[in-house]
Amino acid sequence: MERCLVPMNAESFFPNNIKAALQNDPPGEWIPSVPVNSIRLHSGYPAPQLVPSKELKEAVTQLLEEEKDLPLHYIGSPRIDTLKDWVRQRQDVRGMYAKNEELLITAGACQAIDLIARIFLDKDAVVVVESPTYMEALEIFQNYTDKILTIPIDKDGLQTEQLAELLAERKKKGLTMPTFLYTIPTFHNPTGTTMTEGRRKQVLELAEEYDFLVLEDDAYGELGFNNNPKTLKSMDSNERVLYVGSLSKVVAPGMRIGWVHATEKFIQALFWFKKDLEHPFAQATMATLLENTDFILRLRNLSETYQKKCQVMLAALEKHLPRNASWFVPEGGYFVWVNIPGVDTEKLLSKATEEGVSFLPGKYFFLNQTEGAEYLRLSFSYESEENIAKGIEKLGNVIVSKL
Ligand SMILES: Cc1ncc(COP(=O)(O)O)c(C=O)c1O
Repeated sequence: MERCLVPMNAESFFPNNIKAALQNDPPGEWIPSVPVNSIRLHSGYPAPQLVPSKELKEAVTQLLEEEKDLPLHYIGSPRIDTLKDWVRQRQDVRGMYAKNEELLITAGACQAIDLIARIFLDKDAVVVVESPTYMEALEIFQNYTDKILTIPIDKDGLQTEQLAELLAERKKKGLTMPTFLYTIPTFHNPTGTTMTEGRRKQVLELAEEYDFLVLEDDAYGELGFNNNPKTLKSMDSNERVLYVGSLSKVVAPGMRIGWVHATEKFIQALFWFKKDLEHPFAQATMATLLENTDFILRLRNLSETYQKKCQVMLAALEKHLPRNASWFVPEGGYFVWVNIPGVDTEKLLSKATEEGVSFLPGKYFFLNQTEGAEYLRLSFSYESEENIAKGIEKLGNVIVSKL
């Protein structure tokens, strides 16, 4: 008997939510292709000499000598609990008191954000984000819903007056209220701004008044040049804040260590969906590294190094950028956000990479990408002070001579 073969249509196997998500731009589309030996002012990577490679190698050796094969099983190493304890103590020091049941270790902040999106969002859910914002978080939210609302940022962070207006208007019109607000209040990516304490209080008051959650992404929160502002989580007496932390920017991004601090009920739901999709070996290695690390000293070194690099970048911008260009002066973190009126920064990037310097065009950080055409993000974290100065000079030359 002849079998009747049905031609496979791969598309038909996807449910509607996945089909819709696949209509969006592919993940990571914003990463520029940069020739080797370019000065890389686009990467949000830590400075190579501040990544503790030697110490991590020693930690791996120590871990395997002490625990043999244990850390190589699914959740074998007792140091997995040690890492959670370390995170809990660090949260304590920063005024965010957590029980173990209120913490979940994740594969970086990104997994934490994705899990949060997974348990709180469906296609009808509304999310509010800052504009501009961290593009990977935008990509994540767009996989779950297209109901994303934006509130602009100024030098003092999220414009809370505008948030208040938006919420009041939606309530009046009977529209769906947001499930959560996603914010990077401290040393923001990409703008480098920090939300004032007054605005932080207002965010928490609005969350209470309009009954939404606040997803606080604190990836850069310990990288202040002079001090680190109080987190929203530490100011939250009503359990509104889902706090996301990360060791990527202060230890090593490739280790993929992040965490969520939230109420026990929320952590339980996140845990349900995370299963064991993580890296127990990386967690045990990180715990061993941290046992041997003076973390406060480490933070001090990072902040001194990044502050100097930032100063070099700001001085070079003053010297080499056209007079109509402007930028926010960051008090920590990795980034300077620049506005150059009349310059399309995507076109600028292709000329700049030809001259051996890269940055990220601003458009990628906006939901509506036409808004970001005259902005660019520069990162001072990765390159040496000398290269930063050279890179900005090259950029200035490209703007003046080639556009
Ligand atoms: C605001 C923000 N959140 C999260 C992350 C990613 O953190 P992780 O490496 O822990 O996933 C980044 C990295 O660039 C970031 O800028």
